[in-house]
Amino acid sequence: MATGERKERFAGVSDRPVKRFYGPDDIAGFDYERDLGDPGEYPFTRGVHPTMYRGKLWTMRQFAGFGTAEETNARFRYLLEQGQTGLSTAFDMPTLLGYDSDHPYANGEVGKLGVAIDSLRDFEILFEGIPLDKVSTSMTINPPASIMLAMYLVVAERQGVSWDQVSGTIQNDILKDYIAQKTYIYPPGPSMRLITDVMAFCARNVPRWNTISISGYHIREAGATAAQELAFTLADGMAYVEAGIKAGLDVDEFAPRLSFFFDVHNDFFEEIAKFRAARRIWARVMRDRYGAKNPRSWMLRTHAQTAGVSLTAQQPENNIVRVTLQALAAVLGGTQSLHTNSYDEALALPSEEAVRIALRTQQIIAEESGVANVVDPLAGSYYVEHLTNKLEEEAYEIFAKIEALGGVVAAIEKGWFQQQIADSAYRFQRRVMNGDYRVVGVNAYADPDEKPTTNILKVNPEVQRRQIERVRQVRQERDQKAAAAALAELRRASQTSENLMPYIIACVRNYCTVGEICGMWREVWGEYREESVY
Ligand code: 3HC
Repeated sequence: MATGERKERFAGVSDRPVKRFYGPDDIAGFDYERDLGDPGEYPFTRGVHPTMYRGKLWTMRQFAGFGTAEETNARFRYLLEQGQTGLSTAFDMPTLLGYDSDHPYANGEVGKLGVAIDSLRDFEILFEGIPLDKVSTSMTINPPASIMLAMYLVVAERQGVSWDQVSGTIQNDILKDYIAQKTYIYPPGPSMRLITDVMAFCARNVPRWNTISISGYHIREAGATAAQELAFTLADGMAYVEAGIKAGLDVDEFAPRLSFFFDVHNDFFEEIAKFRAARRIWARVMRDRYGAKNPRSWMLRTHAQTAGVSLTAQQPENNIVRVTLQALAAVLGGTQSLHTNSYDEALALPSEEAVRIALRTQQIIAEESGVANVVDPLAGSYYVEHLTNKLEEEAYEIFAKIEALGGVVAAIEKGWFQQQIADSAYRFQRRVMNGDYRVVGVNAYADPDEKPTTNILKVNPEVQRRQIERVRQVRQERDQKAAAAALAELRRASQTSENLMPYIIACVRNYCTVGEICGMWREVWGEYREESVY
């Protein structure tokens, strides 16, 4: 035990040992121009815009969705009334996996983890009274992402909003699904084709649409360390860039509309350094490895969500403090958009009271803490710059391992990412179990007599019945011939190399359902089967 120190070793959530203090030697060779640049300058370490939050606060974008489109529309409006500045849509499991609400697999899941979407009818209700030229909407969905985008574009058109005014994001990140979230459907080939079709279509028709939200969130939430989250996510990003180039696109045609999504976990300074390292790596890789010429192709723009996995069911009010610290780290890290978890989310989807506190947390940081007044205030800190360098170094070491395995898709098929994450998750859990990592309310300061929380959101069981009724009515009332013809055309095109977006738009216009389209693709492309990893 070093003299007078509480413990042998000090390490945060990623189990990275830290020294007592940091000084000039820890950032030897530091060069401001090369390593940082001013805010808004290459390599964007300090932020992607010269003015950052002095120009525009980050978008307060709470992930929301449950029940039918009516319930979620009401929550969207509530959040906008409470001052949030962007929408973020959570879909239920049947929708995420491409099944209609009346499919046997959907039973019991309709509207549970997110909003049930079967057809354009549901999107018309979901965005009722919400001006799509004034708000940007994120949609967290992967294999059916192109279908959601198509529905959104048709709703915008019906509002008289031209597609070049529409802004938002589809997650559309299938690689992290194979690695962590597991909401994949099709094999990598057709899945990547759908993604590059969206890139090409939006580059030409929907210039403000972010075509992928390359996500580290689910990778981290599955148990990865900060360095693994950083490296795996950026490696996925590079795989998408290579897929876009291979599909014949010029890198500057689609790269400006690639966006990212990172977790913000408990280790405050490590998280800040992770965001700064991510921007620097991406800028250098895009300019020097892929030859991108447009500075917007070099800018890593990201959403952040506080760490759901860090929330505890015990003493849930403690989660308000965890989320506050994590949100502060995201802001000091320079995020463009932020979701703050609600304190009750370890128990259920957020109640209205909890989601208001989560949003107010962002507003207090923005309006009262002063941290939004100065861009990248921690720059020059021996510790933060050292950590930024360290994370960058570790990311490149991991890139080399992935390349040696034959690239991201090959590493997925070898189960390598999944094994790395499982190992990290196991090591972390052992630290919690043996008390090395203390979780307030759980293995420290616990309250054995604590009563369980009761006022949590419950999804009305009536939802499933109502939603099934609606999808059956839509199928009955639509122009059957037009719907059948559109689906047949999409099936034909799906077996060629044509861009599928125009055919998907024709299908949704004719009220073909998510289940019908995804079911047809299951027949044409088959389903991905993953080897289990222990
Ligand atoms: N100076 C000049 N211009 C500025 C500026 C400044 N200081 N700040 C912002 N701007 C501009 C931007 O350049 C942008 O202009 P553009 O429209 O021409 O591009 C405009 O203002 C809007 O700003 P941003 O693009 O920075 O902010 P957005 O919020 O619109 O976009 C994003 C942020 C990260 C690029 C986008 O992709 C996004 O919103 N992503 C959200 C993804 C998301 O919400 N995911 C949730 C997933 S939930 C999940 O998966 C977890 C679950 O599974 C458990």
